[in-house]
Amino acid sequence: MCGIIGYIGSRQAQPILLNCLGRLEYRGYDSCGIAVSEHGINVCKDAIRVEALKKTMPRLNGTAGIGHTRWATHGAPSLINAHPHLDCSGKIAVVHNGIITNYQKLRDQLTGEGHQFVSETDTEVIPHLIEKYYHGNLETAVAAALNDIEGSYAIIVLATDEPKLVAARKDSPIIISLGDRENFIASDVPAILDYSNRVVYLEDGDIGVITTDSIKVSRRGSEVATKVHQISWTVEDAQKAGYEHFMLKEIHEQPKVIRDTLAGWVSGEALEDLATMWADDINALLILACGTSYHAALIGKQMGQELLKIPVRAELASEFNYSTQLLDRTLAIAITQSGETADTLKAMKKLKEVGCQTLAITNVVGSTASRIADRTLYTRAGPEISVAATKSFTAQLMVLYQLMMAHPEIGARKLNSMTKELRQLPNKVQQVLDNEGETAQYAQELSRYENIFYIGRGINFPVALEGALKLKEISYIHGEGYAAGELKHGPFALLGSDTPVIALLAPDDTYEPMLTNIKEVKARGSAIIALTREGDEDIEKIADKVLTVPQVEAIFSPVVNTVALQLLAYYAARERDCPIDFPRNLAKSVTVE
Ligand code: AGP
Repeated sequence: MCGIIGYIGSRQAQPILLNCLGRLEYRGYDSCGIAVSEHGINVCKDAIRVEALKKTMPRLNGTAGIGHTRWATHGAPSLINAHPHLDCSGKIAVVHNGIITNYQKLRDQLTGEGHQFVSETDTEVIPHLIEKYYHGNLETAVAAALNDIEGSYAIIVLATDEPKLVAARKDSPIIISLGDRENFIASDVPAILDYSNRVVYLEDGDIGVITTDSIKVSRRGSEVATKVHQISWTVEDAQKAGYEHFMLKEIHEQPKVIRDTLAGWVSGEALEDLATMWADDINALLILACGTSYHAALIGKQMGQELLKIPVRAELASEFNYSTQLLDRTLAIAITQSGETADTLKAMKKLKEVGCQTLAITNVVGSTASRIADRTLYTRAGPEISVAATKSFTAQLMVLYQLMMAHPEIGARKLNSMTKELRQLPNKVQQVLDNEGETAQYAQELSRYENIFYIGRGINFPVALEGALKLKEISYIHGEGYAAGELKHGPFALLGSDTPVIALLAPDDTYEPMLTNIKEVKARGSAIIALTREGDEDIEKIADKVLTVPQVEAIFSPVVNTVALQLLAYYAARERDCPIDFPRNLAKSVTVE
């Protein structure tokens, strides 16, 4: 997600904008820039850090300006794609956080009307649309431009000879902060806490107009009263939006991440684009990854085998033996949040050398993986600060579901029913999050053990592995993920009252065998915590504790089950007072083999 900032007041804007951008760096970004208005608009931007921008930029005079830290979604990190973006006249500058899903259509329309575009971004259509509708009233022009836009946005608009800033939001946050003969606009509170702790929150559909001495908020064309909130957070608290850790914040961002990752899906072109991944000569999949991304790969394997009836292999990138004879008519998919994992990149390069078609699924635009692969599908999880992967894993699953559903084998009826289920997932995940209190209680009890098994079958066996990995890496408890049917082939020896077992159930043909496995485990003295769908009465009679998740189709059960296990691991680690966001010995991106 990008960071936006605006300043208008009695002081020089440039140093204030740069300081505010520095406070937004924690959100992760690949480019930054500012625009200051005095006798015209002066822009300074590049695919560099804020510190570097400070050092290289000239002095810009002016007491009104806007700034941006970019997390690329459309167009690789570059000077030309960095914000702010300008209209043809160079008199209107815009910074934007969000995704415009109909930008290509708008761009084509505006080009046909004589507008010239220079960047690859979706954002650049905004200043050109405002220019199209600008006849002397900036806020009217902004309102008209937003009428044409579909998708999510938080924007700030600066215009020459206009002693004001205009802001507007839909699905991306914006605050207005009040100072003494100066006012601020920002994506969120950390940006402005050095200057003010009095903020007004804009709602979806609001348009805010600020000057040095005034703020005005309009909703559906009528001015509305503004409620000023006093913020008591420190800057660090604010960067976590009030959550204790980035990991918990990112777990709670998952409903929005699912919506954002599916955003392109609702527009037909995404479906056509995805369908082109399935070239006629592809009849097998090889999915390579590491760690949590490997667990997504295993789930992708289950999806592919169940939905497409084609051979699908999921391999650990570090173990992949490059046996090329098995690669005929195969699409090789590399899943990597960072796009920089050395083991995964090495495997990708080998596959390219032997002529395999390669697709990267990554969260970082312009990452090495995206530059090696023939094609790239981006998860839209936004920057993931915590070392433990959570929202990026869920976003990877969303991309895999869409990719499988775009296969010609799927058929309209199945596609429609799965699309309906997909669209309900944000609410289903929100229900899991709403049950956080009960999950935290179970986690506190689990936190006193040193060894815990996670067992699952079918599409939930990889979820057992992922739940165990989360527990390992942030609580340091030895969580062991195992195929439920395999436990009797050795690990039964480890069962007993000091080794509880978390059993994952799904409403499919693995349910009955799971009940059998659970009884076997109980007979050997281990306590059972069952994770199952709401209304499952059979399990109540067998398990020691039952944690429920909303009812979803079995193929989507990894999404809700994983979120519950993320919370379980988080609260167990919190109970053990672990450094959750930055666990010992681990790095967010493993760029060594
Ligand atoms: C997951 O919580 C870990 N941080 C780690 O296993 C991670 O998934 C793995 O290193 C792969 O990273 P990537 O997705 O960036 O390639």
